[in-house]
Amino acid sequence: MNGATTGATTRTSLFDRVRAAVVALVVVTGWLAAPAPAVAAAGCDPARPDTCTLRELADRLGMRIGATAEPPEVVPGPYRDTLLREFNAVTPENAMKWYTVQSTRGVWNFGPADAVVDAAVAGGLSVRGHTLVWAQDTYTPEWVKAIDDPDELRAVLEEHIGAVMGRYGDRVHRWDVVNEPLASLGTTPSDSVFARVLGPDWVAEVFALAHAADPDAELWINEFGTDVVPGKHEAFLVLVEDLLDAGVPLHGVGLQTHRPSVRGPSTAFQDQLQDYADLGLAVAITELDIPTDPADPDAFADQADAYRRIVGACLAVPACEEVTTWGLTDASTWLDHLFYMEPPTCPLLFDEDYEPKPAYDAVQDLLAEAVLARAPTSTSTPTSSTSTSAPAGPAAPAVAVVARPDFTG
Ligand code: G3I
Repeated sequence: MNGATTGATTRTSLFDRVRAAVVALVVVTGWLAAPAPAVAAAGCDPARPDTCTLRELADRLGMRIGATAEPPEVVPGPYRDTLLREFNAVTPENAMKWYTVQSTRGVWNFGPADAVVDAAVAGGLSVRGHTLVWAQDTYTPEWVKAIDDPDELRAVLEEHIGAVMGRYGDRVHRWDVVNEPLASLGTTPSDSVFARVLGPDWVAEVFALAHAADPDAELWINEFGTDVVPGKHEAFLVLVEDLLDAGVPLHGVGLQTHRPSVRGPSTAFQDQLQDYADLGLAVAITELDIPTDPADPDAFADQADAYRRIVGACLAVPACEEVTTWGLTDASTWLDHLFYMEPPTCPLLFDEDYEPKPAYDAVQDLLAEAVLARAPTSTSTPTSSTSTSAPAGPAAPAVAVVARPDFTG
C-alpha cells in the first residue's frame, strides 16, 4: 500500500498502517490455515507404515492376510470396503459349510457361498474353502448323522465333496478338507459320525476323495485349540505325521488360534508352527481372534501386543503363509454369542465403526518392518482364487518364501 503525497497524505495514516498490518495478518493467518496443497497421494511406503494397507504389505511379503465374510457382509458397504482394502484373502464364515450347502439330502443351497466367492474373486481376494467336512456332530446335518452304513456314507461324502469342489474349483484352490478331527478340548479323535461309521482312517479317505475331486487343489487340515489345550498340539502333530506317512495328499495345516484372552501365547507357539513347517507343510493361522475386556484401560494395548506376538510368530516361520482373523469388525464376532463370554469381547482389528484399533496398528507396523527387512521378492500375492497354480501333492509353501526376521521378541 503506498503513502499519500501530501503532508496529511504523505504520511501513511495510523489507520492505514494498522489496517495494512491487520490485512497482512489475515493474509498470513489465512495462508497458514489454508489446507495444505493436496500432496499427490503417495503410495505405500513401508518406512511410513501408516501409508500402507495390510493388504499392500501382505502382498509385498507374498503372504495372505485374511478375514471372514458372510453374504450380508459382501454387499456394498463398510464391511466390504474394509475387506477389499485391507485384506487379500477371505474365508466364508458359514456359507460353505455342509449344514448350509446341503442341510437336506439332495437339496443344494450354493447361494450364500456363491455370494462370498463372487465378491472375493471380483475383489481379487484368495478364498479358503471352509469346510468340506467338520468332524463335529453338532455341525453335521441330521440326515448325515443318521447314516450307519459305511458304503452309503462314503458315497454321500464323495457326492458332497465333488459337488462343492466342482462348483468352486476354478475359483477356490485352498480347502479346509477336514476341520477339527480332534476333540475340541482333548487330544483324542473327535466322536463324529465319520469316525464312528468309517473307522480311524476316515480322515485319509476324505482327503483321497478331495484329491480325486480336484487333483490341483491345496488340501488343508484345520484344528482348534492346539495353542491352548494341553497336549493337543502334540496329538495333532502325530495325526498329521501319520497322514503324511500314509501318503495322504496334505499340503497345509491351519491352526485356528482362537485365543482365550490377551495373555500369551508363549514363544512355544512359534515352535508349534515350525513343527509343521519341518514336515514340509504350509502353515496358516486361520481363525485368529483375541477377546478383551474393554472396561480394562489397558485392554487394547495388551491386545495389540498379543496380535504382534502371534503375527510375529508367523512371520518368523517362512512356511507360515497366512494370518486370517475370524471376523473383521468388533461389531460382529461369534464370541459375543457364546454363553460363557461377556460381550462385548472386541476381539478384532477394527472397532464397531470400522476404525483401526491399536491391534491393527501393531500388525501394520510388524508387516511393514518385515517388508523393510525382506530379501527382494515378487510383489505378487500367493496362490489366489484366480490362480491355477497349486501343488499336486505334499509340497513346499505355496508362496515365495522370504527371509523373515524373528519378531516374536
Ligand atoms: O443364520 C441363522 C439364523 O437364521 C437363525 O435365526 C440363528 C438362530 O438359530 O442362527 C443363525 O445361524 C447361526 C450361524 O452361526 C450364522 O450366524 C448358527 O445358529 C450358529 O451356530 C453359527 O455359528 C457359527 C459356528 O461356527 C457354527 O457354524 C459361527 O458364526 C462361526 O463363527 C463359527 O466358526 C467356527 C469355524 O467354522 C470353525 N472353527 C471354530 C469357529 C468358531 O466356532
